[in-house]
Amino acid sequence: MSAVLEQVSAIEDFLLMPETELAASIEAAREALGKRVVILGHHYQRDDVIRHADLTGDSYQLSVMASQTDAEYIVFCGVHFMAESADVVGKDFQRVILPDLGAGCSMADMASIEQVEEAWEQLREIGVLEQKVAPITYMNSTAAIKAFCGRNEGVVCTSSNAVPLFDVYLKGYDKMFFFPDQHLGRNTGAKFGIPLDKMVLWNPHEELGGNTPEALLEAKLILWRGHCSVHGRFKPWHVDKIRNDIPGVKVLVHPECTREVVEMSDLDGSTSFIIKTVENAPAGSKWAIGTEVNLVNRLQQRFPDQEIHLLAPDLCMCATMYRIAPQNLAWAMDNLANGVVVNEIVVDDETRHYALIALNRMIEMTERKT
Ligand code: 13P
Ligand code: SF4
Repeated sequence: MSAVLEQVSAIEDFLLMPETELAASIEAAREALGKRVVILGHHYQRDDVIRHADLTGDSYQLSVMASQTDAEYIVFCGVHFMAESADVVGKDFQRVILPDLGAGCSMADMASIEQVEEAWEQLREIGVLEQKVAPITYMNSTAAIKAFCGRNEGVVCTSSNAVPLFDVYLKGYDKMFFFPDQHLGRNTGAKFGIPLDKMVLWNPHEELGGNTPEALLEAKLILWRGHCSVHGRFKPWHVDKIRNDIPGVKVLVHPECTREVVEMSDLDGSTSFIIKTVENAPAGSKWAIGTEVNLVNRLQQRFPDQEIHLLAPDLCMCATMYRIAPQNLAWAMDNLANGVVVNEIVVDDETRHYALIALNRMIEMTERKT
């Protein structure tokens, strides 16, 4: 039986439990475990899960929190790449639990380490690596790709620190190879005035990513062809329509949205930037927000004196984040309280060593620049 199927059968006792009992079960396990457990929750988690989180944050903040906690168990309510990063930055005695092993990320799945290594070799063969090239990976990638960046002078970045980290690398290197989110890469490159023809797209299914050797030699930024299916749902016509429907509305989007949408927006930034912007806005402000629906709904509830809309009328929900349900959390916590660690995420020692170099570099550079 696969690990996911085994989990489905083990979790059966919790599936029919009413919400109040699930919540009580999670809290009882937490009480029994005390300081031995910490529950981390990403801003996109659903309400019935995030209410149990000890600490919430965007993907950068969560990685820092994971590196600072001394709890024996880190229960990660987020997606697989975040739990892997927590295991990498965590201490040796700590164990990281992902309450549903099916909580992956379609963007992270768009780049495998084999494809990245093959692409690097192709760049070497045509002489691009004779220039100073830094591989930079978005946090939304496997630990193996983070380790590749650690081995090759590169770094990990998130949507909250892409600008300061690009600043360092654009000054010290001829070129950056950015995985796997083309949109975050392009939107950040544009903030530094890099023209679009110097940002080439690498299609992993084509020789040289579908580029000529000349274009690759001249490029400043090589962008992996990956994207977020949630943020990809926001379209330029949504921006036009909402501005037409709600005069005075400000459009605030995540930089995983396409270049066209970010260019049309008033402001763009990470999930915590979006939260802070709304927190600091006066009553009566009007927002159309282009990010995951759970976060936007919570902002609507927290700030009834502001007018907050989701930028797109259709449901922009991260289906994999949503897989972390109270049933999985209750099951994982109950097992921990009974001394059984389920759904542990473990990164092998060699990958961990090099991924840690890239993640620590990110944390040090971010602290230095901000
Ligand atoms: P941040 O948490 O960096 O804003 O990223 C959003 C996201 O897509 C997480 O998967
Ligand atoms: Fe991945 Fe997009 Fe979901 Fe973030 S919102 S976890 S990038 S699919």
